[in-house]
Parts: sequence; structure tokens; C-alpha cells
Amino acid sequence: AASVPYEAESAKISQGAVESNHAGYSGTGFVNFDVVTGAYVEFTVDAAQAGPARLDFRYASASADRPLDIAVGGGTVADDLSFPATGAWTTWKTVSVNATLKAGSNTVRATTSGVDGPNLDKLTVTPTGPADTERP
Ligand code: GCU
Repeated sequence: AASVPYEAESAKISQGAVESNHAGYSGTGFVNFDVVTGAYVEFTVDAAQAGPARLDFRYASASADRPLDIAVGGGTVADDLSFPATGAWTTWKTVSVNATLKAGSNTVRATTSGVDGPNLDKLTVTPTGPADTERP
């Protein structure tokens, strides 16, 4: 199955602001997390079928590693996932993690585990199960 992008500015945001003052984001902006532990962006991801998927988080963080906790359906997928410095607020990179999705609607929540998060642009979901692999 194809990759599907989910823009952070369209997700549910708790303690964060949609901003657009650093170029290079997709969609209409990105989320700047508030300076607090526990701020989150929660995406609602649709899966055609249950199975494994790769979650690609596109972000920028000028000079510091700003880790996030990642949970799917309320279950922890990664604690303190590293979002290393990208060198500039206009330099966007991707951090990936593998997760298992259930058929239908899944929440994917990215929560600040330190005192601040990176600027979060989008989540791209790519199913990686056997049925998702192209065959000749
Ligand atoms: C700067 C930058 C913001 C960023 C913030 C931070 O203010 O302009 O986009 O979110 O630093 O350190 O989190």
C-alpha cells in the first residue's frame, strides 16, 4: 500500500502552536511544541488492514536533540525517541520508527519527554507487511 502523509497542523494538538515562520515545511505549517514535558501532537491514522508500518516523523530542531515519546493506540512504541539536531530551523529531517497498526482508525501520539520538542512537520505512514510489498 502507498505511503500516506498526515500534517501535524491538522492533527490534535495539546500544548503546541501551529506556525509557519521557518521555510521548508509541507502543508500550511508545522507544530511548535510548548516548552513543557507532556505536550503532544496526536494523529489519527487509517489502516486498510492490521499489520506493521513505518512511521516517518519529519521535523526540525536547530541545535538540540529534542526526544519524543511515541505511542500507538495508547501503547508505547518508543520512549525518548531521539530527534537529533538538524542544524537549522529550516533544515527538515526524518526520524523513523516501526509500529503495528490495527485495521481502521489508530491514534499516533508524539509527546515531549524533555522540556521541549522539535518543530514537527508531518507524519508519513507506510505499511510494510507482506501484503503491502510489491510483487513482480
Ligand atoms: C525558536 C524557533 C522556533 C522553535 C523554538 C524552540 O524560537 O523560532 O520555531 O520552536 O526556537 O527552541 O523550540
